[in-house]
Amino acid sequence: MTEGRARPFIVAIDGPAGAGKSSASRLLAARLGFALVDTGAIYRAVALAAGRAGVALDDDGPLERLLPTLAIRFAPPPGPGASQRVFLGAEEVSEAIRTPAISLGASAVSARPVVRAGLLDLQRRLARASENRGSVLEGRDIGTVVFPDADLKIFLTASESERAHRRWLELHARGDPSTVEQVLAEQRRRDRDDSERAVAPLRPAPDARLLDSSHLGLEAVVEMLAREVEARLGARPR
Ligand code: DC
Repeated sequence: MTEGRARPFIVAIDGPAGAGKSSASRLLAARLGFALVDTGAIYRAVALAAGRAGVALDDDGPLERLLPTLAIRFAPPPGPGASQRVFLGAEEVSEAIRTPAISLGASAVSARPVVRAGLLDLQRRLARASENRGSVLEGRDIGTVVFPDADLKIFLTASESERAHRRWLELHARGDPSTVEQVLAEQRRRDRDDSERAVAPLRPAPDARLLDSSHLGLEAVVEMLAREVEARLGARPR
């Protein structure tokens, strides 16, 4: 870190799939001029790479050996309002990591302690390396494990049906033929796996602010979060 420069302000946004974390984090980061670290994309990239390498998603030894060989990185979005681009080495995998099969694969690898431990340093480096004033990290265990000392912790949630509907809209827009019922069934399975796993289960940090977005529009969520960050940044010693 450069001398005299405060460390980046860390915003941790955790919560279940479909709560609106991705859109809220992306818009919040853009509005504040913060870096964005989509940690789910990192687990997805690992699942994709493991599948390609023929590594079983529960085989700890080969998974552990695979991790250091992966160059997972993010690049700015191709245009305003678009999502960040995700790379595995020189290959852009932004689309390839968003299939339902990779969603299940990411959930499986994320339950392996060796994978979680192996990805800690990468997540912290990406967030701290920011030249910006701060970083927004989106995930499941950012406020509990990755940055227990985050400057602001948000646990964003929404009702099960609202989350499934939002996810279905997203998939549908991409031409995915899944029905709402299928999306809901997959979401229940992922919710259960993510919250019941022994290591870093999905749960709010004790000092996280809970935000239910079932009846809140995206703009309202981003507005609330941006104000919260600005208030805390203003109060932070320089
Ligand atoms: O947010 P997402 O759907 O892209 O996440 C993909 C999977 O990775 C999901 O099953 C939860 C898991 N994950 C995790 O365990 N910890 C994180 N910090 C981020 C994602």
